[in-house]
Amino acid sequence: MEYRRLGNSGLEVSAIGLGTNNFGGMFGSMYEPEACAVVVNRALDLGINMIDTSNSYTAGVSEEFIGRALKGRRHEAIIATKVSSRMADGPNNAGNSRAHIMSEVENSLRRLETDYIDLYQIHRPDPNTPIEETMRALDDLVKSGKVRYIGSSNFAAWQACEAYWTAEGLGLTKFVSDQPRYSMMYRAPERELVPFCDEYGVGILPFFPLESGFLTGKYRRGQPAPEGTRLAGRDRGMFTDANFDILESLEAFAQERGRTVLELAFAWLLAKPSVSSVIAGATKSAQIEANAAAADWSLSAEDMSQLDGILAGE
Ligand SMILES: NC(=O)c1ccc[n+]([C@@H]2O[C@H](COP(=O)([O-])OP(=O)(O)OC[C@H]3O[C@@H](n4cnc5c(N)ncnc54)[C@H](OP(=O)(O)O)[C@@H]3O)[C@@H](O)[C@H]2O)c1
Repeated sequence: MEYRRLGNSGLEVSAIGLGTNNFGGMFGSMYEPEACAVVVNRALDLGINMIDTSNSYTAGVSEEFIGRALKGRRHEAIIATKVSSRMADGPNNAGNSRAHIMSEVENSLRRLETDYIDLYQIHRPDPNTPIEETMRALDDLVKSGKVRYIGSSNFAAWQACEAYWTAEGLGLTKFVSDQPRYSMMYRAPERELVPFCDEYGVGILPFFPLESGFLTGKYRRGQPAPEGTRLAGRDRGMFTDANFDILESLEAFAQERGRTVLELAFAWLLAKPSVSSVIAGATKSAQIEANAAAADWSLSAEDMSQLDGILAGE
């Protein structure tokens, strides 16, 4: 497994990570803690240390399953969790206020059965809380040792930049990463966020790297989605002719090089200098094995330019 620095920090994370929004049942079928533990342990065996979750995935069940799965192996993992989502009705149960962050970090630590979180991410911006309040609360958590590094997610480039200069001005801990939706089929971050991350040394942790499995090639034009897969029953807008045209061209590109479109989806993201770890979900050991194997393909500048043409529908 290849390891990369998480942004400008000294923390080394596996180029392929494990996403766990399907643990507990939200987004898929991982209802049993035992099935989740199999995937987590296989990931660790393969050298994958980056495990991404959130306090909100199936209302904390994802964190609980990770805590159980990591018994005896906690030190091998980089746990990245998140705060921001609404966790209960009423005031102060959502957002990025000091009040909500300080209570939720305790809930995450308890569910994860650990006394520190490696990467604590703000899940999304909160227009009702000044960024200074959020950065001060996170800095206090880093100083207390409950949190080792902090990151953002779903931030616009200007919001990540505002957070950077707020922390710089006040001498507070800065975000080392941002987690945007980013894949071959969704390139919006390249307009503003990716250039910001390149310039400021912020690591990118792309989510939905496989577009919920579409970029694995298991969904075929005009055919029903295989039973039990994420997109069976709801295609999340992916099953269009234009998307299948791109997918089929990507498959041809990969096959000409003796690789799969799944490997291409990872390799394309890993060719971007600021990408630190590509966090894909997995429902079986075989999937995590296939994902881990993708990390050894380095695309050339010529490959990337040919792929730009395919992705533009040329
Ligand atoms: N920050 C945020 O707002 C945010 C939002 C969404 C997600 N995330 C994070 O990003 C992670 C990744 O996103 P994601 O898991 O939703 O989407 P994804 O990585 O695009 O797709 C994952 C799904 O693809 C299928 N798959 C994975 N590897 C495969 C393989 N080798 N062969 C065939 N199918 C394979 C599996 O689904 P099936 O087996 O069910 O088909 C798996 O659940 C999440 O788990 C979560 O940690 C963050």
